[in-house]
Amino acid sequence: MRLTQMNGITEEIMSGGSSSEGEVYGTDVVKILPELIRRYAGKVQLIYLDPPFMTGEKFVMRVRVGEGEWRTGNGTLVRPAYDDDLGLEAYLRLMRETLEGAKALLSETGVIYVHVDMRAYVHVRLLMDEIFGANNLLNEIVWSYQTGGRAKRFFSRKHDTILFYRKSKKYYFNIEAVPISRTDTRRNHMKRHVDADGRVYRSIRSGGKVYTYYDDDPAYPGDVWDDVSHLQQKDPTRTGYDTQKPLRLLERIVLSSSRPGDLVCDLFAGSGTTLEAAWLNGRRFLGVDRSDYALQTMRRRLDGAQCAWIAASGAGSPAVSLDVEPGIAFFDVKLTGYSLEKGLCDRVFNELDAVDNWAVGYFRDGVFVRQAASFRTRTSPALETTLELPVLGGQMGLRIEDVLGRRFYFGIGNPGEE
Ligand SMILES: C[S@@+](CC[C@H](N)C(=O)[O-])C[C@H]1O[C@@H](n2cnc3c(N)ncnc32)[C@H](O)[C@@H]1O
Repeated sequence: MRLTQMNGITEEIMSGGSSSEGEVYGTDVVKILPELIRRYAGKVQLIYLDPPFMTGEKFVMRVRVGEGEWRTGNGTLVRPAYDDDLGLEAYLRLMRETLEGAKALLSETGVIYVHVDMRAYVHVRLLMDEIFGANNLLNEIVWSYQTGGRAKRFFSRKHDTILFYRKSKKYYFNIEAVPISRTDTRRNHMKRHVDADGRVYRSIRSGGKVYTYYDDDPAYPGDVWDDVSHLQQKDPTRTGYDTQKPLRLLERIVLSSSRPGDLVCDLFAGSGTTLEAAWLNGRRFLGVDRSDYALQTMRRRLDGAQCAWIAASGAGSPAVSLDVEPGIAFFDVKLTGYSLEKGLCDRVFNELDAVDNWAVGYFRDGVFVRQAASFRTRTSPALETTLELPVLGGQMGLRIEDVLGRRFYFGIGNPGEE
């Protein structure tokens, strides 16, 4: 089947033309902010930012290749994902522009959380005080965890800080949406009672007053979060994208600080944890990241969402082959081959192992409208090699993302045509 590479495609939406649940932009945040502000100023309820921390490190994607690696979850192709290499001046410029843009995006009830480590903290804190106003600081949340190695030449660094600011006094926040279980060692020194209904409660006398607490009353998090563990090496939710944060951490933020239907935004979205937390909990989402692997990871995590992807296709010319079997209501589109350009990667890939995921659909007004897709996942590690494309008329096409993080669109010639 004749395929024509389509280089100018920058947008993909789901069948039905819908992007009602979210949008993801694969580009630089500073470049896209004016456009986001034009469209969404004053409309975003919650922003979470997990920006680079000026660590000087190069972060990687551990890409899982083929069915075998998807089955074990052990990605052996280690590729650059993004560099955290900005000097202080460039870092401050990036953060100032992003935070000013974030403020413009927030609604009057909106709030923002910015995740920092001990290096970035002081710079971001001062910028946020200036941009949002020191009186709008609500919390300095300490997220403490136990994962990672132990230091010998200083105390092990086992916490991050999350700065939580409101845009205005009208901010929305609902602690009752994030109850936690009581594991109270604090209560050991209290007196235990059982009331007439059989409910257990504790009491303590302090300053001449008696305080009572029922064991089954809900408890809520304070500003030290030591009950959300970081991702372990073997955690099944690990995507392979360095610096991925746990879903539970983002769910606490999303549930407490937005309502169903609200717009939740992450301008350094990475593997897409915030967007997934938003989507799973009925919020709309807006994400930005300039790393191709970030986009690829998010696409897998958000599979099923009615979402638009706005990102330029990659440079390159892989060899793709497919067969199309015409049917009455559907074409059966069978992917028969995908090979990388010579000399691009020193690893040899079997059959379709260089394909991370693929989709078929139609091009409409320069937009790829996706009808069916196949992703490898931990629970379904094999790639479906045949996808059903409904017969709709118009230019048929496919999108392929490969294990090098590249994304390509191709127009498919009409069946019967060679
Ligand atoms: C710490 S990671 C975010 C991780 C994310 N919270 C997660 O759970 O996966 C920071 C992200 O910011 C992105 N980034 C850095 N500078 C950027 C820029 N100028 N524009 C867009 N994205 C950027 C990187 O590609 C990286 O994915």
